[in-house]
This record gives sequence, C-alpha cells and structure tokens, in this order.
Amino acid sequence: MSYIRKRKGWEIPERSVTSEDIYWNRRRFIKAMGLGSIGALSLATGCEAGETSTKEVMSPTIRNPLDAPARDLYPVKRNLSFTANRSLTPEDIAAGYNNFYEFTTDKEGVWPLAQKLNIKPWEIEITGLVDRPQKCDIDKLIRMMPLEERIYRFRCVEAWAMTVPWTGFPLKALIDKVKPKSSAKYLRFITFMRPTEAPGQYSASWYPWPYFEGLTMAEATNELTLLATGIYGHPLPKQHGAPIRLITPWKYGFKSIKSIVRIEFVEKQPPTFWNKLAPAEYSFTANINPKVPHPRWSQASERIIDTGKRVPTLPYNGYGEYVAQLYKS
Ligand code: MTE
Repeated sequence: MSYIRKRKGWEIPERSVTSEDIYWNRRRFIKAMGLGSIGALSLATGCEAGETSTKEVMSPTIRNPLDAPARDLYPVKRNLSFTANRSLTPEDIAAGYNNFYEFTTDKEGVWPLAQKLNIKPWEIEITGLVDRPQKCDIDKLIRMMPLEERIYRFRCVEAWAMTVPWTGFPLKALIDKVKPKSSAKYLRFITFMRPTEAPGQYSASWYPWPYFEGLTMAEATNELTLLATGIYGHPLPKQHGAPIRLITPWKYGFKSIKSIVRIEFVEKQPPTFWNKLAPAEYSFTANINPKVPHPRWSQASERIIDTGKRVPTLPYNGYGEYVAQLYKS
C-alpha cells in the first residue's frame, strides 16, 4: 500500500528496490539460517547495510497484550461455516508483516513500534443517525457481544494474501443494538489520533490523519462483516489493530480499518482515507477483482505471505456467494 507521492531516497523500503522474488527468497534464506534480521546477515558477510542489527523477538505478550480488553473470554468457539480452503498463515508471520501507517510504512517495523499504543482504557463511540447512540468502554462492549471465531482469507491491494482465524462479532449485531434511523445509509469508521504514541501521525504529515473508512449499510449488515477483537485465539495484538478493527474479507485490506474509536451512521457516502489521497487508485467500494489491475499491482494473482507461492486471485476473494448480489444494479 502506498500513495503515489514520490518518496525521498532514504524512505524507499528495501523491497521496493529489490525485485520481489529476490527479496522474498532472501528473507526465506535468512529465516532458514535462523538469523533474525538482515542486519545479522550483514555482520556475517559485511556486504549488506541499512537495516537494524538488533535481533527483535516477538514475545507472547506482544502477540497477546496484557492490557487487552476481555482477555479471559478467549479462545472462543469457532464458527465452522466460515473456513477458507487454505492453510492458516503461521501466527508469527501474520503478526510480523503489517500495514499500519500510523506507526511506519515498513511492514516488518510495525510490530515493535505499535507496542507503544495504549489500549487501556479505550472508548468507542457509536453515533450519528441512530436512536440509541453509545459511548462504551471496549471491555464492556466485547462482553455484550456474541463472539465467535472465523477463518477468513485476507487480501491486500498490494497483492499479498494470508489466511487467519479472527475472533469477533458480526457488525450487524452492534447495528441492531443502536437502532439506525431510516435516513442512515452509510457507516463511517475512524481510527485514533495520537501522534505521541504513533510516530507516523506526525512524521508522515501529508496523510489526512486520523485514518477513516466507510461502508454502505448493506455491506455493514452483510453476514461476513466482522468487528474483530482477536486473532489466533487471543485478543488482537497492537500491530493487527487492537483493540477492535473492521474485517470485510471480500474487499482489499485497506478497507479493514484498525483501532477504531468512532463509528458514525451518516446519510451520504463518506470520504475514505486512500480514496481521498489517490481516487484513481483506491475506490470506495474496493472489491477484490482479478480483472481490474491497480496501476502498480496486477490483481490477477496473489502471493501467499508465508510460502511465497503465487495463486490466482478469486473474484470477491472467493466470497461471491455472500456478497455478489450487493452489487447487482
Ligand atoms: N488501519 C489503519 N488505521 N491504518 C492503516 O495503515 N492499513 C490497512 C488496514 N487497516 C491500515 C489500516 C491495510 S493497507 C491493510 S492491508 C490492513 O490493515 C493490514 O492488516 P494487518 O496488518 O492486520 O495484516
């Protein structure tokens, strides 16, 4: 994911200047050697430079934060109606390769930085065109909702994919509680604004922080649409968008807004973060479609992040039976 603004030389991530295959083969080689970072390899060969030489280890409490809400409720029962027909992505790979621009644009640098995010206390506000607006502590909200686990495929517009078990509840269950007015046609989602905890919010000042997203009411009430509060049988780690994020598995991952603080019911289609930055590249709808290439990424196939294998992209990420009818005019 990136905006078309030209980066300064020192901002270009290594994978942008190395061909993708070479990049991924090298990472696999490093992992196979048991070396935690590219910096460790530089020390061995003396011919690479530019990445940290500190070996960072993802501790169990980084995967499953101690300050997470409603920790005692996990793991929850899996809903077997939602399986992905693909192997699960190993947890450490999913938790170490993230898009969360509030922290950094370097996917492998997100998890250490995201630990600074303070998720206790955390309030979420449900507001706008509803009869019963709420401002609720996240721990209380999670305890009121019907938690379940679902295995979903997840697909980024950058053409990488993973398969993970989310814990969460259907967004529809929350919508039913707040009783939207008939004039409410869209939902608008907003992330926190905390530049002291999230360095990208002050260093990448050209982005229109805080991150915002939107869905139509029909999309929001579709049975696939989850508010996820956990992953791999425990609460969400910070890098995946603790304490609560959106999941719409038939849409590109940028729709899945992380660390939500406000949901507003509105009458008009709300602006969205990436669409505002580059409308020709990121649509409001953003449904996964192998036939419509992004200017920088063909969408015909996708790279599975743990194996590096390329597989054909499925329309709606394989969820057409649930959602295709939403788009028939
Ligand atoms: N939400 C916020 N607040 N900030 C972000 O930068 N990135 C999006 C989405 N949600 C993003 C976000 C993108 S581009 C993707 S692909 C997914 O989060 C990545 O989710 P993951 O890191 O849990 O795999």
